[in-house]
Amino acid sequence: MPASPAPALPPLPYTPAHPLRTERLDLRPVTLDDTTAIHAYRSLPEVCRYLYSNPIDETTAHEAVTAQAARTTLRTSGDVLQLAVAVRETGHLIGDVTFVLTSTTHRQGGIGYVFHPAHSGHGYATEAARALLKIGFEDLRLHRIQAELDGRNTASARPLERLGMRREGHLRENEFLDGEWTDEVIYALLADEWRALRAPEDRRPPAPSAP
Ligand SMILES: CC(C)(COP(=O)(O)OP(=O)(O)OC[C@H]1O[C@@H](n2cnc3c(N)ncnc32)[C@H](O)[C@@H]1OP(=O)(O)O)[C@@H](O)C(=O)NCCC(=O)NCCS
Repeated sequence: MPASPAPALPPLPYTPAHPLRTERLDLRPVTLDDTTAIHAYRSLPEVCRYLYSNPIDETTAHEAVTAQAARTTLRTSGDVLQLAVAVRETGHLIGDVTFVLTSTTHRQGGIGYVFHPAHSGHGYATEAARALLKIGFEDLRLHRIQAELDGRNTASARPLERLGMRREGHLRENEFLDGEWTDEVIYALLADEWRALRAPEDRRPPAPSAP
């Protein structure tokens, strides 16, 4: 029997409404005005330790942020969406997140995040990554979303686990980084699992209206 094709994605191009509001954060396209704020954390060796990108200096910051600012719309497989993350209450840019439309054919996506260490420990990365999963599963109707990380990056694994993503792959010594063979770890979530995780939230009764 011929395999039935996967259900179609909603029409592309896709540009998220912005700001995309979560409980405490606003996610919006990166602009060149963000260069100083992004340079502040992407220039730190401890932030880049497990990233493929090296710390940026003031000269490369402009170039890096220009590239990020262009990633506002998903058109086809391989396209990347880059969003700045600001704390709504203060307006401070505290990090940036990435959504990859890995494959339209297979309805696969990927997520990533980088935050200023001064703002760690508040659940902001978890909250922003949840918004990316929502984009992928609810707006784009993807089937599966993945995150890949250096096996040594335990700080990055924790938000994924908190979001209910499954640790489904551990690739032994598949990369040679920092002069040593390193492992890569893969987390993923399926659309059905996302719906199951969201179900209690969806069943919650509406908040009572003010007297
Ligand atoms: C990965 C990274 C974003 C994680 O940052 P983080 O601050 O630990 O993650 P969160 O913002 O989700 O905060 C989670 C922490 O806040 C705590 N927290 C406080 N309030 C919270 C809330 N309302 N909701 C959730 N967590 C909360 C959690 O308990 C957790 O602490 P724990 O990890 O000690 O258990 C950060 O380390 C980073 O930017 N690293 C450099 C870049 C990088 O490696 N990116 C990943 C590439 S794969």
